[in-house]
Amino acid sequence: MQTAEPEVVATLYDSPEGQFGPTLFGGHLHWGYWDAETAGASFAAAADRLAEIMIERIRIGPGQRFVDLGCGVGQPAAKLARATGCQVDGITISGSQQRAATAMAEAEGLQDRLRFFHGSALEIPAEDASYDGGWFFESIFHMGHRAALLEAARVLKPGATLLLTDLPTLPTTSDEFRDFVQEHIHSVFVAKEDYPALMAEAGFELVEIEDISENVMPWLVPKLTEALEEHRGTLVEMFGEETEKMIENWIFLFEYMSENLGYMVVTARKK
Ligand SMILES: C[S@@+](CC[C@H](N)C(=O)[O-])C[C@H]1O[C@@H](n2cnc3c(N)ncnc32)[C@H](O)[C@@H]1O
Repeated sequence: MQTAEPEVVATLYDSPEGQFGPTLFGGHLHWGYWDAETAGASFAAAADRLAEIMIERIRIGPGQRFVDLGCGVGQPAAKLARATGCQVDGITISGSQQRAATAMAEAEGLQDRLRFFHGSALEIPAEDASYDGGWFFESIFHMGHRAALLEAARVLKPGATLLLTDLPTLPTTSDEFRDFVQEHIHSVFVAKEDYPALMAEAGFELVEIEDISENVMPWLVPKLTEALEEHRGTLVEMFGEETEKMIENWIFLFEYMSENLGYMVVTARKK
């Protein structure tokens, strides 16, 4: 299965619906992490927690450079820059996201350490071995795993950590689902079992795969439903009569994805 051209993926995030995503998820554009203690957490709070879980796994410090591949509107990158003191370059294929992220960095006074580029993570505007660390935070399935990992390997220094969150297919994932997500959200998902070979081919040592499906997937629909309800007023302003249809589409997609995918955090090291 082929991923869509990067410019096609951009239309998804530049659309009004795509631009509303960060509002629902508290400035993040990824899912959340819940457990028994945080069962009451909103989608936004749980998305922020997942960003913290990612940051805990990164070894980087002041003066070092990190690349965020598919950076959304920059919230995870800003959190990482604040927590570690490193410099972050974010790349997104969406022009509207790049503009929003740049404005946020300036508003937060982080523009010296936080830069955002409009472009493709398959052609990173950086020399070989430029970065001390990097991540694909819920983004690699839009890019094509093999090509994206090869390009990440090119720009990372030997020994650098590469972190990913990804949504692995399950033994029960249907062909119908694969066709649906390829057509509607320009995504091609792979299985957890594909990872060792993908990493080895790209020049990474696979350090760990943490399956956190239980902390993500069953929570998605109820928490999304709450978030949509909370933001209903804004939704109606933006989408008018289309609002109910839009809500239905979001819920259908999240339900379908929860049934057909897992969630994992992957740590790798550039050889
Ligand atoms: C689900 S969002 C995740 C955003 C962000 N990482 C976060 O966690 O908030 C997927 C991101 O991947 C980006 N993306 C998809 N294909 C891309 C490509 N070829 N190059 C750069 N960014 C890409 C999208 O623009 C979007 O920002």
